[in-house]
Amino acid sequence: MREVSKTDYAIKDIDVDISEITDGIYRISGFSNTLGITFNQFLIDDEKPMLIHTGPIGMYKNIEQKIKEVIPLQKLAYVSFLHFESDEWGGMEFLESADAKLVCSDLSSKLNLMGWYNIPVDHISTWDNDTLKTGKKQFKFIMTPHVHHWDSMMIFEENSKSLFTSDLFIQPGNNKYVTSDDYSESMINLYRGTGIFASENSVRDTTKRLVKLSPNMVYPMHGSCIDKSIFSKYAEAIMKNNFAFSGILLGQKLENTIS
Ligand SMILES: [Fe+2]
Ligand SMILES: [Fe+2]
Repeated sequence: MREVSKTDYAIKDIDVDISEITDGIYRISGFSNTLGITFNQFLIDDEKPMLIHTGPIGMYKNIEQKIKEVIPLQKLAYVSFLHFESDEWGGMEFLESADAKLVCSDLSSKLNLMGWYNIPVDHISTWDNDTLKTGKKQFKFIMTPHVHHWDSMMIFEENSKSLFTSDLFIQPGNNKYVTSDDYSESMINLYRGTGIFASENSVRDTTKRLVKLSPNMVYPMHGSCIDKSIFSKYAEAIMKNNFAFSGILLGQKLENTIS
């Protein structure tokens, strides 16, 4: 066993930058040298702006600062997280500081928020194919259970064909904001080394569905945004390679779990 102190897991003092990826969609990203990954948040500026992922709480102040470079914080109308985890949802402070409304999957609402300490009661829970119009943009919610977590969902912005996949199609390292390069091998190795998917089946079923959407850009939570010219390589890698949990959790071998 080992004792964990508050500072062990604080993801903070990370420089954050912001870049507009496409019309009104901003990537707010910081790279952790310790973990070797970026944490990406996405601000969608519209009549009712939305933030997708908050980042870990240690990055809150820097992310808030970047949002304010684009819109007054009070204008932020929605904060959406795609599954309940500290990097997706550590900055729940936005609900108070910006008076924004939380948007999550119905499963996140029922499994994680119900009964949670300091529960944000007033929130929007979404189901498969629900839509939310924020002005010029329209968001469609896609339930993706067991793609990493039971409560996972993804979001598709229908006008720009922007696909927000959270921890699917992530890559390690600190590369360009948008990539047309094939990092799918390091994506697969990252999945194998962390054990974030219990099985390939649900991930492959979801990938088939996402490919049919023909996204112009894919916006993962870690790594570069993936341009449509190279997206098929990432989808193919999911279909062709094994990457499900095989006894390794965040690089540590767990004995006697897989026969
Ligand atoms: Fe996650
Ligand atoms: Fe994540």
